[in-house]
Amino acid sequence: MSKNALCFDLILRGGTVVDGTGGEPFIADVGVRGEHIAAIGDLRAAHAPCVIEAAGLCVAPGFIDIHTHSDISLLYNPQQTSALAQGITTQVVGNCGIAMGLVTDEPIFAYERRWLAPYGIRVTWGGRLARFYELVGERGTATHIVPQVAHGTLRKRVMGMERRPPTPAELSRMQELMEQAVEDGVWGFSTGLEYAPGSYSQTEEIIELAKVAAKHGLFYSTHLRDEADHLVEAVQEALRIGEEAGIRVQLSHHKADGERNWGLVHRTLQMVDEARAKGLDVMLDQYPYDAYLTSLLTGILPDWATEGGPDAIADRLTNPTLREQIKAEILALHPDWNEPAHWQRVVIAVARNNRDLQGKSILQIAQERGCHPLECVLDILVEEHTFVSAARFTLSEEDVQTVLRYPLTMIGSDAIATAPLGKMSVDRVHPRNYGTFPRVLGRYVRELRLLSLPEAVYKMTGLPAQRLGLRDRGILREGAVADITVFNPLTVQDRATFEEPHQLPLGIEYVVVSGKIALQQGVPTGALAGRVLKRQEASCSLSF
Ligand code: ZN
Ligand code: CU
Repeated sequence: MSKNALCFDLILRGGTVVDGTGGEPFIADVGVRGEHIAAIGDLRAAHAPCVIEAAGLCVAPGFIDIHTHSDISLLYNPQQTSALAQGITTQVVGNCGIAMGLVTDEPIFAYERRWLAPYGIRVTWGGRLARFYELVGERGTATHIVPQVAHGTLRKRVMGMERRPPTPAELSRMQELMEQAVEDGVWGFSTGLEYAPGSYSQTEEIIELAKVAAKHGLFYSTHLRDEADHLVEAVQEALRIGEEAGIRVQLSHHKADGERNWGLVHRTLQMVDEARAKGLDVMLDQYPYDAYLTSLLTGILPDWATEGGPDAIADRLTNPTLREQIKAEILALHPDWNEPAHWQRVVIAVARNNRDLQGKSILQIAQERGCHPLECVLDILVEEHTFVSAARFTLSEEDVQTVLRYPLTMIGSDAIATAPLGKMSVDRVHPRNYGTFPRVLGRYVRELRLLSLPEAVYKMTGLPAQRLGLRDRGILREGAVADITVFNPLTVQDRATFEEPHQLPLGIEYVVVSGKIALQQGVPTGALAGRVLKRQEASCSLSF
């Protein structure tokens, strides 16, 4: 061995290497030189200016969060604290049909700009992903970012909030914008078919756009059209899009919403198996909680009542005739929503005009206000101009476990990365923002033994890297980018709860991003070593 071969910038000594392949862990030293892993093995004779004593700890590839919305917070929260503290070193953004980089300063995007307004961020990138990610690069980011192009935002750019199919000219304009996004380096094409305006599209529109994405080798990630009563049809639609466009499919945050739909995931997983047997590359992701969180109107307001956006919705909800019609439609679909019990399970998360409502159930608010819970929901939508989210405790723990056990399920937080300080800490976020990955390792590996440790780590690293076609990350091996997460398998655990979400987890000890220590003994160092990863058609990752 030459002398040079014994010198590293960083050595992680004596840890248990869980390498991200799903294989058996082994004890070894890991040597990092510059931004790469230079050696794995017995490095007793080697030295480095920086050494992490990792005996008793697991040394894994940095976690890849396959499903996030952190493009929303990157410009005001470059530290991405809630993600980094979970051991996440790469975040896939632009999910569910929403991409901040495609937003412009036109009036139609007033809703999206409300995410940024409290932090004084103005939309200066003119809806061009390349310019948005240039800005992100200038400000820095603690984790790497994998961008996607998003259908909902694209459609809104071209068609506004109109509930109809596109004209041929509009469709080709959307395809043009897709091509531009490909040039800007996106890895995936996402839809949010339950959200307006994604919900206004028919399957054919998505197929025509997915064909463009497929031509350039992107994958298709989808928030299904329905995760409740029509879950099975919605999965069928996703599989059809995959087959007809010839594109790899990722089912986002898979779940069956509402007690009467619990257990349907057995059926949908079987559909995934059948589609794979026929040659379609379909996989899925999940966050390990039995509650979800989204906009309050999602799954409540009939689709037609959302047309035109927030102003039009508020007009309808304050028009007595239309309001009655909307209520009648909702109750016809969900007779049980006339009873108070359901509304105990719907809890207001972020309500910027009514901060005192945050954390209260609709039932509780209805009692305080002396009105029917559904009336109360409609009132709050008007008061908040529809910019209000709610957690819904309507999933089943058994389903969570069924989906998590499935070999092709990877882990995705669905979070907008946040931090426990300043304005960010006033929002009542879902605990998944802070707890997703540690919760899988603590609760589902150590406590419930639902997964083995190598299996769980594979779902967080090797599997998502394979899905993305990220060749230089996701597996700990010589030559890979030095993204490394070191955790204590005996203590790793989420602490965030719905009541107190802004809590960092326990047991994530060190996070290394591109060879730089970004988290040290559980505390962020402030390093902004992440990159925006730009996909090249040759499928190797370069950075801006
Ligand atoms: Zn979603
Ligand atoms: Cu999402």
